[in-house]
Amino acid sequence: MCGIVGYLGKKEALPLVIDGLKYLEYRGYDSAGVAVHSGKKIEIVKAVGKINDLEQKLEQASGKGTCAIGHTRWATHGKPCLKNSHPHQNTDGNIVLVHNGIIENYGGLKIKLEEEGVVFKSETDTEVLVQLIGRYYDGDLAKAVIAALREVTGTYAIAVLAKDRPNEIVIAKKSAPLCIGIGKGENFFGSDAIAFIKHTNKVVYLKDGEVAVLTPKTVLIKNLQGKKVSYKVNNLSLDPSSIEKGEYPHFMLKEIYEQPRAIQDTLDGRISPQNDEVILTELDKYQEYLLGINKILIVACGTSWHAGLVAEYILEKHARIPVEVDYAAEFRYRFPVLDEKTLVLTISQSGETADTIAAIGEAQALGAKVLSIVNVPASTIARDSDMVIYTYAGREIGVASTKAFTTQLIVLSLFAVYLGRLHHSLDDAAASAILQNLKRVPNEIAKVFNEAKNIKKIAKAFHKHSNALYLGRGVGFPIALEGALKLKEISYIHAEGYPAAEMKHGPIALIDENMPTVVLAFKGRRYEKILGNIMEVKARKGKLIVIASESNDGIKRIADWVIHIPDASESISAILAVVPLQLLAYYIAVEKGCSVDQPRNLAKSVTVE
Ligand code: M6R
Repeated sequence: MCGIVGYLGKKEALPLVIDGLKYLEYRGYDSAGVAVHSGKKIEIVKAVGKINDLEQKLEQASGKGTCAIGHTRWATHGKPCLKNSHPHQNTDGNIVLVHNGIIENYGGLKIKLEEEGVVFKSETDTEVLVQLIGRYYDGDLAKAVIAALREVTGTYAIAVLAKDRPNEIVIAKKSAPLCIGIGKGENFFGSDAIAFIKHTNKVVYLKDGEVAVLTPKTVLIKNLQGKKVSYKVNNLSLDPSSIEKGEYPHFMLKEIYEQPRAIQDTLDGRISPQNDEVILTELDKYQEYLLGINKILIVACGTSWHAGLVAEYILEKHARIPVEVDYAAEFRYRFPVLDEKTLVLTISQSGETADTIAAIGEAQALGAKVLSIVNVPASTIARDSDMVIYTYAGREIGVASTKAFTTQLIVLSLFAVYLGRLHHSLDDAAASAILQNLKRVPNEIAKVFNEAKNIKKIAKAFHKHSNALYLGRGVGFPIALEGALKLKEISYIHAEGYPAAEMKHGPIALIDENMPTVVLAFKGRRYEKILGNIMEVKARKGKLIVIASESNDGIKRIADWVIHIPDASESISAILAVVPLQLLAYYIAVEKGCSVDQPRNLAKSVTVE
């Protein structure tokens, strides 16, 4: 999604803004641009492609100044091209704006403005907003921004410059992330604090409907009625080195290898010394509520939705409470049946996914309480939810989610035991067995890395295929979905995940000697059944890549390729099995020369509907 950065202070602004934009590259973008205020005029430079392309163009530009804004664009309205990239300016050229979000009523506003004689230069919804602000501007930029925002519907994080106000930037937000970094004699802002964390850790998270007037030394926040509002300055602890690739060629590989550490951090302090209780102090206040629930509705998107599907199996098994899992975008627009006895559980790495945020509002309006599992501290989802359990994966930069997913599975497993104990559906011995197994996961994942060489060879053999099937049963089914998603998003190979038993109801027609099938066949009560599915693929000459438990040596006689994971219980095997699937997708994408960390068309966090 689009990224916004800005600086105003005493330093040369453009290098800081460009550096900030580089930190936002992970969000996904197709063009980039900056505007710098030189005191007398505003110079705009834009480029289609990467920040490097923008930097090359800047070498030819003359603009210098201590106040600048920058933007990375992920196209929604209008194709990726120079005229549609940001910053945009109004016809008079005195107002310049960058925007993340969608102005939903732009069509009607555009017609109205055209009737008044405005000639539009781009195909974007954003240009309507800059023209509108220009219409209202009479020397008071915040007033003009507020007047324009009161006319628009939709979502926005914006930053606005006026030609005759060289030391001022006005920013505003609604349903798109935006935060301010307060420095000494200088202020920053960004879609993500990562953009300026090297310079200050004093962060103000702008709330929906707030407009901030920034100068180098001051921050004034108003609401859309023009009234001053107070704000809280947070001391953010984000280690800038956690956002570097280090020795790894890609963030995705680094993040795959960080999983033992991320899982350990997520488990630390959450299991009692006797291994029989889960400690989630963040839920203490809500114990009575959680004791009274009779339904859990899990809502999420993408990989986080897959984590929700895994949770359906383990929550129903351990807590004996009915669970439903829904895509956030579907949930928010249907008429869900829920009440104050329903726990709505949302899962999100970024905490900024637009549909999940909206789903929280819907659920709360219907009387449910919302518990969210989130990776990014103080993100919108964390702030909007009644209860939050954090995963401690650390920053995830690669677009393909890896360590966030496995840490979500860990938190969900802990939560299943916690609820099972609370609802008396899990006895001491059963809880203790699950918790001791969970504690072994970091070490067991480290052992899976021994398979990396083998997986690289498989990637070499399979990277030229254009389709793949992923099959699993039970908790293996959502893992199959996740493996298929990883492959398609970074290698652009079409892949589908299925519950293995469903194969006979259609997908089996696809199987021939050109169709690779990845089967999750770890030990458990469904093993014999999945072996049957493997034989069905083999009988039709399909190519078989099987993820099997270490002690299953015999599978080598059947499968073309075997990837072993340590022997473990079914639900732990599911966590271990996702790691080779992440590596398989990664090495196939590398073989194909794909842009692993920033796959085409994708954004790390989907902040628009
Ligand atoms: O930040 P979230 O967990 O809410 O994001 C949800 C999805 O957008 C995300 O998982 C997406 O599917 C990833 N690209 C998957 O790798």
